[in-house]
Amino acid sequence: MNRAHIEFLSSPQWAEMLRSDLLPWLTSVGPLGDDIVEIGPGPGLTTDLLREQAARVTAIEVDSRLARRLAERLVGTNVEVLEGDATETVLESDRFSAVTCFSVLHHISTPQDQDRLFAEISRLLRPGGLFVGVDARDLEQLRQAHDDDTFTPVPRETLPRRLKAAGLEIVDVDEDEYQIRFVARKPA
Ligand SMILES: C[S@@+](CC[C@H](N)C(=O)[O-])C[C@H]1O[C@@H](n2cnc3c(N)ncnc32)[C@H](O)[C@@H]1O
Repeated sequence: MNRAHIEFLSSPQWAEMLRSDLLPWLTSVGPLGDDIVEIGPGPGLTTDLLREQAARVTAIEVDSRLARRLAERLVGTNVEVLEGDATETVLESDRFSAVTCFSVLHHISTPQDQDRLFAEISRLLRPGGLFVGVDARDLEQLRQAHDDDTFTPVPRETLPRRLKAAGLEIVDVDEDEYQIRFVARKPA
């Protein structure tokens, strides 16, 4: 991500948008359980929401500088920050009550790597566990905002099929003006 993008994702404005927009939706999804994985926390304002909801959060961030900063900021809390690629983690299978992925999928270079991420998430979830995410729609203004960055939006139409191929059941796939939002479950 470029510097402007990171600054925005660290800003009070983004924190406020997450509290007024993401949090009510997350609450409507229902309890995420006691042991959550967050994919791609970035500066960690989404992590701050999640750590209020669960006993334990494991955040996996591929950018080493962002991972180090977040680990330093959250030392001594209920969050463990791991540096690494979430398409291929060392975490245990069938352990987690939920996996979240907020504004990360479009930062993954290819649909094939996105599908590898879905398969890895399916592996990590315990039976009945939820995969919950939001991501950018394919809009010209969002393409321009990612001018010098990866932008691989996931078409809403293909998402159910791709999540099912990873072994997940669809609970809900929805979209608003800017985002798709989805909830899937590992079969119990
Ligand atoms: C747009 S930011 C979103 C940050 C945060 N979730 C939020 O909504 O404020 C996307 C983050 O995903 C991370 N990311 C991209 N691909 C990843 C991967 N394969 N594994 C882990 N993190 C990844 C990026 O480094 C970046 O920090």
